[in-house]
Amino acid sequence: MKEHISKQDLHLFEENILTKYRKNDSPLMQVLQESQNLYGCVPIEVQEVIGKHFRISPAKINGVVSFYSMFTLEPNGKNTVGVCLGTACYVKGGERLLDRVSERLEINLGETTKDGMFTLAPTRCVGACSSAPVIMVNDNIHGKVTSDDIPNIIEQYNK
Ligand code: FES
Repeated sequence: MKEHISKQDLHLFEENILTKYRKNDSPLMQVLQESQNLYGCVPIEVQEVIGKHFRISPAKINGVVSFYSMFTLEPNGKNTVGVCLGTACYVKGGERLLDRVSERLEINLGETTKDGMFTLAPTRCVGACSSAPVIMVNDNIHGKVTSDDIPNIIEQYNK
């Protein structure tokens, strides 16, 4: 799912948002967060505008966007699915569950389905270790999940 940001929008982003940070010594994190809030992502075209405006190299900006999980290149899907890979879930088969979810949705970790319904997000311990292995969908915790449960869980949110 790729959101198109028009040249006019990019111009407004520069005029109204980036100029606010002109006097800031290291504005990168803040302007990336502004883009994430506004567009739901930090696409390449926004990174280019940020780079030109603040004279920051594209490689540095892209490195920061890739490093921090709060920034994404594309908007997240309607539902965010996370298979917990914290220790308790991992030893109870979390990684296998992640493979099953990935196969079911036909996407890899960090990607969004073509229809924009699901994003598969990296997930660490969500504090429900006694219910391991755990899958989070949006704010809902599904505990003691088996591979056989996955189609039903996904289907509940596929609307
Ligand atoms: S390790 Fe998965 S909920 Fe704690």
